[in-house]
Amino acid sequence: MKTRHIAAAIGAAFALAAHAQDARIDRKVADLMKQMTVAEKVGQLHQLSGRQFTGPTSSAYADKLADIRAGKVGSMLNVTGVADTREIQALALQSRLKIPLLFSLDVIHGYKTVFPVPLGEAASWDMEAIELSAHIAAREAAAAGIHWTFAPMVDVARDPRWGRVMEGAGEDTYLGSQIAAARVHGFQGRKLGATDSVMATAKHFAAYGAAIAGRDYNAVDMSEQQLHEVYLPPFKAATDAGAATFMNSFNTLNGIPATGNAMLQRDILKGAWKYKGFVVSDWGSVREMVPHGYAADLSDAAVKAINAGSDMDMEGYAYTQHLEAAVKAGKVKMATLDDAVRRILYKKFELGLFDDPYRYSDAAREKAVLSDQSHRTAALDVAQKSIVLLKNENKLLPLPREAKRIAVIGPLADSQRDLEGGWVVQGERAKVVSIVEGIRSHAGKAEISYAQACAPGCASSEGFADAVATASKADVIVLAVGETWDMSGEAKSRTDITLPGQQEALFSALKATGKPVVVVMLAGRPLVFNTIADKADAIVYAWFPGSEGGNAVANVLFGDYNPSGKLPITFPRSVGQIPLSYAQYNTGRPVTDEKNVVYKSAYIDSVNTPRYAFGHGLSYTDFKYGGLTLSSPKLAGTQKATLSFDLSNSGKVEGTEIVQLYLRDMVSSVVRPVKELKGFQKVHLKPGETRRVSFTIDRDTLSFFNSQLKWGAEAGDFHLMVGSASDDIRLSAQLEYLR
Ligand code: NOJ
Repeated sequence: MKTRHIAAAIGAAFALAAHAQDARIDRKVADLMKQMTVAEKVGQLHQLSGRQFTGPTSSAYADKLADIRAGKVGSMLNVTGVADTREIQALALQSRLKIPLLFSLDVIHGYKTVFPVPLGEAASWDMEAIELSAHIAAREAAAAGIHWTFAPMVDVARDPRWGRVMEGAGEDTYLGSQIAAARVHGFQGRKLGATDSVMATAKHFAAYGAAIAGRDYNAVDMSEQQLHEVYLPPFKAATDAGAATFMNSFNTLNGIPATGNAMLQRDILKGAWKYKGFVVSDWGSVREMVPHGYAADLSDAAVKAINAGSDMDMEGYAYTQHLEAAVKAGKVKMATLDDAVRRILYKKFELGLFDDPYRYSDAAREKAVLSDQSHRTAALDVAQKSIVLLKNENKLLPLPREAKRIAVIGPLADSQRDLEGGWVVQGERAKVVSIVEGIRSHAGKAEISYAQACAPGCASSEGFADAVATASKADVIVLAVGETWDMSGEAKSRTDITLPGQQEALFSALKATGKPVVVVMLAGRPLVFNTIADKADAIVYAWFPGSEGGNAVANVLFGDYNPSGKLPITFPRSVGQIPLSYAQYNTGRPVTDEKNVVYKSAYIDSVNTPRYAFGHGLSYTDFKYGGLTLSSPKLAGTQKATLSFDLSNSGKVEGTEIVQLYLRDMVSSVVRPVKELKGFQKVHLKPGETRRVSFTIDRDTLSFFNSQLKWGAEAGDFHLMVGSASDDIRLSAQLEYLR
């Protein structure tokens, strides 16, 4: 048998086995459900928070424990560690039907080993590294009793005022979809139920990233085109990757709260996409339909949410208090309740919890896995890959080993907490490598001096004079500034995304010494820093890089790692330009180079271009693009064309380039963006090396959500562009599509 045939036979055998398992689990679920009262069924849909976090509407902890014993709770969030999960699971096993609980937690970028924040990791454009980071997070969490993480967040986000841009993959649908799949695979592994994996959650369904003015929890109004084309594909990618659960979102979408949105949850997710997992509400989002003005009271909210497809109620108390009566009153069909219960019980069986409710809570495994040093190596690897070199005047970086005196200055230079970023669960703060510590241990013979200048937040300039005195004695200054860890994330929207406090003034004071200044910036979002962008000699954007952050930054500064990260989100020049994406429309009055054109789509006080474009990121080497060929200038039906070109490393050190493929559909039934990312590859080259890089173009590449509200490609001309960034296109070609 040929290998291909063997692979097909193995694939078919797996599919059969999976099918048999599906049927077996379906039977077990059905048997169990026959024994359940309506109250017990409703119990499976009720999720409560453990004692670490309780919201204003939470019930008392003792009442929660009593409810678990009574079989009125299906899942707990925020209960962590083997000891606690065992203790709480034991209570569930005292209930009549002994149905185990699901333990869930926000494991967003690591459990004990802290990885870069998700937006940072997205800058690596490295699916293997991202998958590994999610896998390690899952391995650690699963060893500590957790079955289920509320990640990945796959919301496309184009407004950096929104603090939650930090939790996602940035502004782009294509890149975001790839990352969504990588993260789901990483968290879940190939098959649910392995004790080194957890269930993933694709959140927040849907369009949460488009909240008005970047204000958290806010309303979203958007066209069907935008929804289907820009915001939904990463969710579809997550379902295709097998995401076990979905979380809905706090926002309304065109007037309907996502939690009560039947079009999203019932018609699209469970209907068109045939999704088999379950949907959990966001925290209290069922009850929030009352203040939204969409439900009259909590009972009405319960009815609207479950009928729209929300299966589990997180800390909302709507289902537990009102569903039983609603079923009796005929407002909710028994079949609807059963469907939600079935979906949840299915996952409990799939995870093996009925065979052993404690299988994730093994003290010996917890100890061994949480001290696995290889996790730090992976954290360093992805942190390096996430760093974006924004600017490098006169090739100041990498710093030569023989640099004699380096002054490390700044409010975040010796911070450990700020390197971790938000959403940290069990991170060992004391073991986070700070930037100055990383520099000290990588600097060889160079003499390192340090001055903080001001505390994080940089409210006072009292320490500036001392810092300037320290810096004046050095050959080069490394300045570590940025947002503090708690300035991005949930409910952390900002109207002003400049560097907080007096950090730009600190930069100016240091720059006035005449010494070269390298700025290392930490943040969970794109910041605005115009003075630094204009005047710094080099800028290294490190996001919140995690436990190994200081080592990652130092490796980049000294050239032990040649930076390769590219921005996954546009950096504006000012808040006034927001929203700003490379995938913009042309308008009928595009900006041209022609002088004296007044009536164009522009500002009178700023250019339209961003400070740093999507896809931007420098390297210590140079890459040349050339020799573009397109296998055919015309493409018909389902044919494929190949676009190829030569990429050469024309510099002196080895390096990795992320080559990007964009396209523009020139004329169509709905106007198309001037550029859309359609492919990318990470190519590592030695100095002098050349490699032929190819992309396949087919109907899918050319498709969009058209005027008939359907996916498809329309006949006509397409402009294909290959480059190093969305604003640095090096090669292009024309393609005609014939249907
Ligand atoms: C609210 C957040 O929106 C969501 O992302 C998170 O998973 C839940 N709280 C649970 O902590």
